[in-house]
Amino acid sequence: MESVSKDPHAAASLLIRQARRDDLPAMEWEGEYTHFRRLYQEAFESARIGHALLWVVEQPGGGLVAQAFVQLVSSRKELADGVHRAYVYGLRVRREHRRNGIGTRLMQAVEADLYRRGFRLVCLNVSRDNGEAKRLYERLGYRIVAVEEGRWSYIDDRGVRQHMHEPAWRMEKRLSAPDA
Ligand SMILES: CC(C)(COP(=O)(O)OP(=O)(O)OC[C@H]1O[C@@H](n2cnc3c(N)ncnc32)[C@H](O)[C@@H]1OP(=O)(O)O)[C@@H](O)C(=O)NCCC(=O)NCCS
Repeated sequence: MESVSKDPHAAASLLIRQARRDDLPAMEWEGEYTHFRRLYQEAFESARIGHALLWVVEQPGGGLVAQAFVQLVSSRKELADGVHRAYVYGLRVRREHRRNGIGTRLMQAVEADLYRRGFRLVCLNVSRDNGEAKRLYERLGYRIVAVEEGRWSYIDDRGVRQHMHEPAWRMEKRLSAPDA
């Protein structure tokens, strides 16, 4: 495993940008997320028509170390209504780069961008057994607003529907103007 120093400034040299189509294979992270290939492609198409955003974090010299997805428009208006409320999901930092502030920085960038687009509420689901992510969101000001049963399904890269059950907390944060 690559060793990463706990340099408090390490996260500052990273480039946070929107994903390009040619980033999609790298976003599968050597197979860890290959089963989500269709979801990634759908999210990318949704971004192309302005209904979603795909964020990646690139380290100097190339190489993606984190990703996050945002739904701006959803058929589930309680998640994303295209105007005030957006839904963040799929925040992932590569294992060897965690605990360096990257997740925090990416979420702050996502929030600042949403604020500029006029959105004022961000919501997300966090698995009830994911203490690390819940702590991060609480530190950023998210609060639990509902219990989410967490039943959902997707079609994997082989065309097989997978049924998931991930009991979660729904968390929300009201956005305020980012620091200049
Ligand atoms: C949850 C997740 C995104 C957090 O990403 P991350 O980059 O490690 O997050 P941060 O580094 O900003 O914060 C994590 C911890 O590292 C600490 N930290 C940040 N910078 C640090 C540094 N330079 N030195 C030491 N610790 C540091 C933070 O204080 C925080 O501590 P805490 O958990 O005790 O509060 C990451 O663990 C992950 O990808 N998990 C798997 C996917 C997942 O569960 N995603 C959430 C879906 S809802």
